[in-house]
Amino acid sequence: MNNRPIGIFDSGVGGLTVLKEVAELLPDENILYLGDTARVPYGIRSPETVIRYSFECTEFLLRQNIKLLVVACNTVSAISLHKIREAVSIPVIGVIEPGAAAAVNATKNKRIGIIGTEATIKSSSYVKAIKALDKDIEVSGLPCPLFVPLVEEGWTEGTIARLIAEKYLKDITDREVDTLVLGCTHYPLLKGVIQGVMNDVSLVDSAIETAKAVKYILDGQGSRDILEDRGQGKLKFYVTDSPDKFISVGERFLQQKIKDIEKIEL
Ligand code: DGL
Repeated sequence: MNNRPIGIFDSGVGGLTVLKEVAELLPDENILYLGDTARVPYGIRSPETVIRYSFECTEFLLRQNIKLLVVACNTVSAISLHKIREAVSIPVIGVIEPGAAAAVNATKNKRIGIIGTEATIKSSSYVKAIKALDKDIEVSGLPCPLFVPLVEEGWTEGTIARLIAEKYLKDITDREVDTLVLGCTHYPLLKGVIQGVMNDVSLVDSAIETAKAVKYILDGQGSRDILEDRGQGKLKFYVTDSPDKFISVGERFLQQKIKDIEKIEL
């Protein structure tokens, strides 16, 4: 039981921001990461399609005998997390609830901004999760679709990134939020640029909060009995398209070498 791997999936390379935080917090764990790189992006697709894709990813990881599933993709977490939870018997952690809880803790003026893909914002999942914790909080959601290709290209700083961030974030700045949730796997890579545009605003990184939730669940509320207690955990990667691009972009996300990688069919 202890040394079964944790499974993490995302539409592509972005979920590596979540993997990085989980691996840092739980370095003894074996982790399997699946990036559905042949079908990314999910954030512009219909809910039906996102649900279908996410079940295929889930079923693949369940076949690898994982002990816990992390849905690193905000779009999937927003649209099909509850359906996945209903369908499987292992714990399933998404990125919305941990991010929402951290934002509620951080806000002082009770005005929170959410940025994410069009599908995530349209689902209102962050708004619902925040309102469930404090109904008096005002939540403003804003899709920032260009941020994903910008990060995939590695343009995470410089004039182009700053101009796009300024243009998108103006709406949110006008609403005087004091807390902004980076509600997409890719956005933590743009933290520097976003913080530059929104000086005094607290940025909530769902990846860090999700890693804490994984640890909390594995600790079994005080008991670490399903945690792996051997030495260094191993990372294994699966992709649905050629590994080359994933490796070059992914190593930047992860800040370490991607060695054990396999192309699979879902
Ligand atoms: N992983 C997606 C998310 O966090 C971003 C990329 C995509 O649209 O698939 O919403």
